[in-house]
Amino acid sequence: KKVKVCSPGTSANLGPGYDIFGLALSKPYDILEVEKTEKGIIISVEGEKAEEIPTNVDENTAGVVAKKMMEDFNIQSGIHIHINKGIKPGSGLGSSSASCAGVAFALNELFELKLSKLELVKYSSLGEAVAAGAPHADNVAPAIFGGFTLTTSYDPLEVLHIPVDIEVLVALPNIQVSTKTAREILPKEIPIKYMVNNVGKAAGMVYALYNNDLELFGRYMSKDCVVEPCRANLIDGYAEVKEKVKDLVYGITISGSGPAIITIPKKEHVIDIENIFKEVWNCPVYYTKVGPGCYVE
Ligand code: HSE
Repeated sequence: KKVKVCSPGTSANLGPGYDIFGLALSKPYDILEVEKTEKGIIISVEGEKAEEIPTNVDENTAGVVAKKMMEDFNIQSGIHIHINKGIKPGSGLGSSSASCAGVAFALNELFELKLSKLELVKYSSLGEAVAAGAPHADNVAPAIFGGFTLTTSYDPLEVLHIPVDIEVLVALPNIQVSTKTAREILPKEIPIKYMVNNVGKAAGMVYALYNNDLELFGRYMSKDCVVEPCRANLIDGYAEVKEKVKDLVYGITISGSGPAIITIPKKEHVIDIENIFKEVWNCPVYYTKVGPGCYVE
């Protein structure tokens, strides 16, 4: 028996929603094929930077998730996980999360575990701990739930889900940013006025979603005063792009820990924004919309 799952890229934070907000994209995505075997866990990988992804179960983020699920549910047979990476690792588009969520989703189908979406997020986030040093769930939550998610509590884990229909334009500059470093450079404490700013803007973004107000959503998304300013310097050309697109987008910010950049484009300017991305970074660009999260192909 075999299950084939499409697991999408995601964009975490969306400015002031650090470690809370996440958005499922329609592309790029990973395809995972999981097949029952006699014994053990075998992992094979092809696609984007496949040669850099460990296939050892304890080092592979999806392998860690699969191993724990198989232990917890006392699954005696083995599995072969084949991952076709469409999402470049280290991109800020939830590449490792997509593989973690995809494998949790696939095992749930394959072994008819009947787990809730929240339980799948919990298992998926175990793999994130391997990738980033902390089991944050703001990428795996939208990868499982689709749409827009808010991870409002970590202990116990709580995820709120809002289905939305938004178009986004994402650039993926060819720059290396380590999530671990991008987390380490953040301040341990912040002035209370920064908290007031970010809580206000994040709350306003949720209001904007319920009112279909893209202008407000994007404007607040661009107003994180804590995380984005610390990370902006890690992405060469970001300040230049931000200035050049300022009248063409409703909002722009770093996707996850970068280097991907997510914008809410004004429809009539999509081509102009793409041209600016290409001129500054000569990089892949995804014009896509918010997607449904993992699904069986
Ligand atoms: N919320 C996380 C961060 C997402 O910004 O560090 C990156 O995977």
